[in-house]
Amino acid sequence: MADEATRVMADETALHLRRISKQYEGVTVLRDIELEIAAGQVHALLGGNGAGKSTVVKIMSGVIPPDPGGSMSLWGKQISLPVSKAYENGLAVIHQDLGLLDNMTVLENMGVSSHYGARILGRISMRSERRLCEELLAEMHLDVSPDQLVSTLSPAVRAGIAIARARRVMREYSDKYLFVLDEPTAYLDARESEAVMRLMRKVADSGCAVMFISHHLKEVMDTADHISVLRDGRVADSFPAGAGDKNRIITAMLGRELVEPYPEVRPIAGGATRLDVRGLSGQVVRDVSFEVRAGEILGFAGLVGMGHEELPYLVAGSGAATQGTISVDGTDISSMSIRERVSAGIALVPGNRQRDGVWPDGTAEENVVLTATVAGRRKSLNRRGERRSAATLLARFGVKPPDPARLAIQYSGGNQQKIVLAKWLSMGPRIVVLDEPTQGVDVGAKFDVLSEIAATAAAGGAVLMSSGDYEQLAAMCHRVLVLRHGRVVAELHGRSLSETTIAAAVHG
Ligand SMILES: Nc1ncnc2c1ncn2[C@@H]1O[C@H](COP(=O)(O)OP(=O)(O)O)[C@@H](O)[C@H]1O
Ligand SMILES: [Mg+2]
Repeated sequence: MADEATRVMADETALHLRRISKQYEGVTVLRDIELEIAAGQVHALLGGNGAGKSTVVKIMSGVIPPDPGGSMSLWGKQISLPVSKAYENGLAVIHQDLGLLDNMTVLENMGVSSHYGARILGRISMRSERRLCEELLAEMHLDVSPDQLVSTLSPAVRAGIAIARARRVMREYSDKYLFVLDEPTAYLDARESEAVMRLMRKVADSGCAVMFISHHLKEVMDTADHISVLRDGRVADSFPAGAGDKNRIITAMLGRELVEPYPEVRPIAGGATRLDVRGLSGQVVRDVSFEVRAGEILGFAGLVGMGHEELPYLVAGSGAATQGTISVDGTDISSMSIRERVSAGIALVPGNRQRDGVWPDGTAEENVVLTATVAGRRKSLNRRGERRSAATLLARFGVKPPDPARLAIQYSGGNQQKIVLAKWLSMGPRIVVLDEPTQGVDVGAKFDVLSEIAATAAAGGAVLMSSGDYEQLAAMCHRVLVLRHGRVVAELHGRSLSETTIAAAVHG
């Protein structure tokens, strides 16, 4: 596409929201939101879980109507509210699942775009279709062939394909676009996240604009030009990235300063071996052996597909091990079912992306109490007592709001994660297996959740923690094992354990 058309006008405004408010059944979720995004800008929208970020995105894209009274303009043009056909006016939302068809090629995906592709396809021959596809890939600096299957591509490249596809559709209507990405890196490892950030930079530099939501403050500081922070449905702060640091963001998010980002982790006081894993293999994991002592927090790191994300499920029994033995306090549990392992004291907190940790149609109370009762580790209390203890538990884990009667599905992803953690950690498990325990959890609640994990270890539990957050692993773990191609390639502990040494070992 001609550079003329996409050249940035210095003071051009991609988006301007004024006095946007939203109530759900009388509860105010957004109050007088004011947001301005300039062409060429990467704008980060931050805020704690439940602050209202996704609600802003849904209003901008027309999924839900705002309350009357506000206004919105895109690329200088007033948009009537509620928004309809946002993409015709230069706004595209790239959803977290990207909406790509895995078993089709890049070229096929470029043509197939759910609601608006067909019209265009009818007019364009396959040859020019391919040329257009190549052109778009080149524009995005994506080094892939149009014939490659989407399923073979890395997450970051897939995000690039999703953006290229949106660009392709939108150029029919407009030559400038605002791309909106709601937590695009939530489920990606560090390297993939960096690639997505670079991609967003390129998109903005080409004269478009990008708004993204993230809980990773480091990537925000590294990439965003401008930062807006929501708290309780208001814009609590908004500033050019150069004008503030992590602390300014956290203060705006929490309404107070966060003195210590991580809880104190107690040294292992000569604990006995709780978990003994010998020669464990699964789909990716190859012949892995390790011990975890009572009171110990053992971390696992690696790039996507290297095995660290499979290990928790092999130990808990929801992933099938092909070889090896697993013993808990000297008892071999290798041939036990998941349920039997739960009774043996193993608690698995699956990663957010697994989506099987929470019972969406159950209330928060049912979600935190049920498994505990099923596992027979807690006698069913009287109803009122139960509700009260559920409320206390929810508050302890920073669930917002801590309302036992609210359906789990009504909570944001980050709060659902806290509910699942509350459920399992409150059982006083002997072994806790965590996959990305704080994925999607905001900085304030992260501290609460990590404190509970530290307390579980301090009470004699053995904790396994798989994560792509190296800073968190370094701060929380006594030891970290790094996996590559399914095997342990490094064991870091004591002075050799830091964010940097983990990153170095992971990247080889
Ligand atoms: N359909 C809905 N009905 C009632 N409340 C909702 C609904 N959707 C979201 N909320 C509430 O609105 C608030 C903001 O939610 P959301 O925008 O998803 O937050 P964020 O994306 O910042 O985590 C939360 O308190 C959430 O529970
Ligand atoms: Mg959200």
